[in-house]
Amino acid sequence: MKKITLGIVFVLLVLAITTIALFNTPSSAPITELAKQNPSKNTYLSSQIIPDTDLPPAGTRSLFDHVIALNDGLPYPFSKLIALLKAQNPDNTEPLTLLIPNGRSLLKGQADNQHPRIVVASDFDQHNTVTGLGMATRGQLFLGFVENANEIEVLSYNEAAGRFEFQLVQNYCAGCVPRIVYARRAICTTCHQGGGAPIFSQRPWNETNGQQSTAAAIAAARGNQQAYLGVALQQPLANSERFDQLTDIGNFYQATQRLWLDGCGKEGNECRRQMLSLALQYTDNAGGFDANSSQAQVLKQLQAVSFPKEGIFVAESDVLNRDVIGEKQGFKGWLHSLITRDIKFGEGAKDNEDLSEFDKLPPLRKELDPLTIRAPKQLLTANNIDGVYGVASFFTQADLKVLAEQNGHNMSHLIKKVNALPLDVFAAKPFSRVAMMQALTGKTQTYCCLNTAEMSPPQASGVPPLTIHKNTQLQAFADNCFACHRGNPAKRLNFMAGANEDEVLANIQAKKEIRDALDWERYEGTDKASKLMPPRDSLQYQQLKKLDPKVRQQMRDTVPSLFDF
Ligand code: HEC
Ligand code: HEC
Repeated sequence: MKKITLGIVFVLLVLAITTIALFNTPSSAPITELAKQNPSKNTYLSSQIIPDTDLPPAGTRSLFDHVIALNDGLPYPFSKLIALLKAQNPDNTEPLTLLIPNGRSLLKGQADNQHPRIVVASDFDQHNTVTGLGMATRGQLFLGFVENANEIEVLSYNEAAGRFEFQLVQNYCAGCVPRIVYARRAICTTCHQGGGAPIFSQRPWNETNGQQSTAAAIAAARGNQQAYLGVALQQPLANSERFDQLTDIGNFYQATQRLWLDGCGKEGNECRRQMLSLALQYTDNAGGFDANSSQAQVLKQLQAVSFPKEGIFVAESDVLNRDVIGEKQGFKGWLHSLITRDIKFGEGAKDNEDLSEFDKLPPLRKELDPLTIRAPKQLLTANNIDGVYGVASFFTQADLKVLAEQNGHNMSHLIKKVNALPLDVFAAKPFSRVAMMQALTGKTQTYCCLNTAEMSPPQASGVPPLTIHKNTQLQAFADNCFACHRGNPAKRLNFMAGANEDEVLANIQAKKEIRDALDWERYEGTDKASKLMPPRDSLQYQQLKKLDPKVRQQMRDTVPSLFDF
C-alpha cells in the first residue's frame, strides 16, 4: 500500500518536474541570433526619413548628449548624474528612480539584491522664456545603471531626428575613463521592440522596490537602509506606476512619428496640418473633444489616401509583471529550485558586447521574456485619429500657455493661424515640437538640444580604447584627464580626442591652456584657482595630488609654451 502511494507520488513529481521544465523552455531564439537578424526591410516613408542606423542621423544628437555637453561633461559617481538631472528641473526635484535587483534587462546577470539595477526617468518640462523653449524631458530621457557592469544604458529622444537613441556609458567606474557610445541598435531592439522605444513591466511591478518585499530583500542584502548610490531603498509604488506611464508616453512618441509620416503619406501635408489643428483643439479641451466631429472626419478622409493598408502598429511597451520572490515560494518554487539548482549558468553579460554570456543565463518563461516577440498594443487604421493625441503629447504645458497667451486665449484664433501656415511647414519630416512652436509663434526660439555645432562627433560602440605604447608621456593624461577630456560631447572640452597616440599628443600640445591649468603653485589662492585642473571635487584631483609634483611638471612640459616659437 505504502509502496503504491510512494510510486504515485514519484510519478506525479516526475510529471510536475517535466511540465515545469517544458514550461521553462525558452521560446525565443538566443539573443546572439536575434541581434544578427536585420530588421525586416520595409518601404515605409517613416523608415526612409527616420533611419535605423546605430549613430544618430548627421547633425542630430540624443537629448542625453545635449544635456551632458551643456553641463561640461559626464559627472561621476552616479549620484552626481542624478543631481545633474535634478538641477535641470525647475522644481529642483529628483528624477524618478527605482531599484530592480532581479530584472530582465540585458545586464540582469550583473545585478542582484546587494547591487540592484538603478533605473532613472526624467519627469519635467522646463519653462519657456521669451527667446527660448524649455527642455522637454517627459518620456524622453531614461537611464539604467548596473554598478557591477560599470555601464549605464541610456535611452533618450532625438528631437531633430524623431527617434530614440540607444547609448551606453561604458567603463563608468572610479578612476576609469568612461566612454559614451552609441550602442548597436539591433541588440537593444531585440527587447525594445517595434522600432526602439522604452519598455517596462506591468502592475504590480514586483521587480521594483516600489514593492515592499523587493525593497526589504535589498535592505537585507545590503545590511542597512541607507540609500544606494543616492537612491532610497524603499520607493512608493506610485513611482513604479509613473515610470511605467513615462515609458508608455515615450513609446507613443515613436508611434506618432509613424502616424505623422506613414499615416498621412509623402504628399499628405494637408493631412498633417489637420492633425496638428485637432491636436491643439484637444489640448484646449480634452474632455469636450469629439473624435467623431466633422473636423475629425476630415482627418480620417485625408489619412485614407495613403494610410498603409495593413495598418500601423503601436508597439507593446509593456512586459508582463514578474514576481521573482513569489516564484521562489510554495510548492512550485520548490520544484523549480530542484531543476535549476545544479545547472551552471555563468555570470551573464558583463557588458552589451557580451551576448553569448547573456544566452547562458537561466531561461525565462516565454510570456515573461522580453525577447519574445510581443503582439502590438494596438493596430491603427485610417479611421483612428490617435495621431492627434500623440502630436498633442509633444507640447509642454509651457508651450500651451505661450500659444494661448499669444492668441488671446482664443482657440479659433490659433486654428486660423494653423490654417494660414505655409504648406511646407507640414512637409514629410519628423514631427518636431520645437519646429512647430517656431512656426506657430512666428519666432525662432532657441532650444537647448538641437544645435550640434559645438559638440564632438558621436562615437559608435566597439571602437577599442587608446593603448599607449610609444608616446608614454600620454599616460599621465590618460590617468588624470581623459575621463573628462576624451569623449566629452562638448567639443570645446574634448581636446584630448584622437584616433591614435600621435593625434592625441598633437591635440594636447595644441591646447596651450593646459600649462596654466596644471600650474597649481602659481594660481592656488588667486581668482584663477577655479580654472586649475583637475577640478577640486574630482577623484582625479585627489589622485594627482598624491603623486610627485614632477608628474605635473612633465605634463606641462609636454605642451610647448607659447614662447617656444
Ligand atoms: C534582453 C532584453 C533587453 C535588451 C537586449 C535591452 N534591454 Fe533595455 N530594458 C529591458 C527591460 C526588460 C527593461 C525594463 C525593466 C528593467 O530596466 O529592468 C529595460 C529598460 C531599459 C532602460 C530604462 C528605460 C526603460 O525602457 O524602461 C534603458 C535606458 C534601457 N533599457 C536601455 C537599453 C539599451 C541602450 C540597450 C541596448 C544596448 C538595451 N536596453 C537592451 C530589456 C532589455
Ligand atoms: C572630472 C572632470 C575633469 C577632469 C578629470 C579634468 N578636467 Fe579639465 N575641465 C573640466 C571641466 C568641467 C572644464 C570646464 C571648466 C569651465 O569651463 O569652467 C575643464 C576645463 C579644462 C581646461 C580649460 C579648457 C578651455 O578651453 O577653457 C583645461 C586646459 C583643462 N580642463 C585641462 C585638464 C587637464 C590637463 C586635466 C588632467 C590633469 C583635466 N583638465 C582633468 C573637467 C575635468
